Amino acid sequence: MTTYVVATAFGGPEVLSVREEHLAEPGSGEVLLDVRAAGTNPVDVKLYSGNMGADESTMPMRLGFEVAGVVRAVGADVAQVSSGDEVIAFRISGGYASQVLVPAAALVPKPEEASWEQAAGLMLAGTTAVHALAATAVRTGDTVLVHNASGGVGLMAVQIAKARGAHVIGTAGEGRHQFLRDWGVQPVEYGPGLADRVREIAAYGVDAAIDLVGTDEAVDVSLELVADRQRIATIAAFERAQRDGFKALGGGPGADPGTELRDAARLELVSLVEEGQLEVVVDESFALTDVAAAHQKVLKGHTHGKIILVP
Ligand SMILES: NC(=O)c1ccc[n+]([C@@H]2O[C@H](COP(=O)([O-])OP(=O)(O)OC[C@H]3O[C@@H](n4cnc5c(N)ncnc54)[C@H](OP(=O)(O)O)[C@@H]3O)[C@@H](O)[C@H]2O)c1
Repeated sequence: MTTYVVATAFGGPEVLSVREEHLAEPGSGEVLLDVRAAGTNPVDVKLYSGNMGADESTMPMRLGFEVAGVVRAVGADVAQVSSGDEVIAFRISGGYASQVLVPAAALVPKPEEASWEQAAGLMLAGTTAVHALAATAVRTGDTVLVHNASGGVGLMAVQIAKARGAHVIGTAGEGRHQFLRDWGVQPVEYGPGLADRVREIAAYGVDAAIDLVGTDEAVDVSLELVADRQRIATIAAFERAQRDGFKALGGGPGADPGTELRDAARLELVSLVEEGQLEVVVDESFALTDVAAAHQKVLKGHTHGKIILVP
């Protein structure tokens, strides 16, 4: 028996429902996982909000693109894992569950250094961060401006950029500045006057900018401070990217999905965690059955790290 979450209609977190069902045995190329933790992402909330389309045929909608768990059973033609292995599954569907059937190709080993909650939150934000840094060609000696440095993706991006030898300036609310400083990031408060505050601390200018929030402010400041538009990327301001000629990444209109690059980044992320160069920051964990409360928190837009569900 598995416990799982569905959105029953388009709307807010009140449409979420917790259900139970029997799962089939894993088929060819499939693996049955006991989920120890499931990662949430803002897109999970957006998908059933109605803002990304409201096709009733997608209801009831299962949620959850990433989990960490233990292999319980494997189907035919699965050689890479066996029962008892500790793994991360990404990118999957229906991960908000106590058990889930996943394609074996979605599995990578769970790094021992990460807790279940950390492992569950590593992949969607981490692969997005790797994609953003690759798209803007961030390398040793660069100064990169990261808008929304204290969110799920931002906390990955700043660590990976530092590991690559870049100098990082990150926007965040005042309350997160000391945390970022401790990681070697120069924090700056977002809001009016942002461009001047960045200029003051960027002694050698800004080589690249990564927008992880999608506000006009983040886009305008990036365009003002970075000379080469090929070194500006957004994961949220898709219309502005098309209009102003910079890069959009991920699943939005006109964006580069970067599928191959993101798939390849999964093992790189596992290595970075194993080497102690990347830590997944968990803001809060909720019981799977408290999914509506977890999503209320995501909706407020001021989380500082990953929100995780534990079955
Ligand atoms: N295209 C893709 O491939 C892709 C992939 C992942 C995520 N996304 C999207 O990218 C966005 C960020 O994702 P996430 O998971 O990092 O989100 P998140 O963790 O929910 O972001 C929360 C953070 O946003 C900060 N924030 C709020 N208003 C801000 C502003 N005006 N300027 C700068 N920072 C601000 C908050 O900082 P304070 O609390 O300090 O205010 C908070 O730390 C979401 O829209 C998500 O859907 C896109």
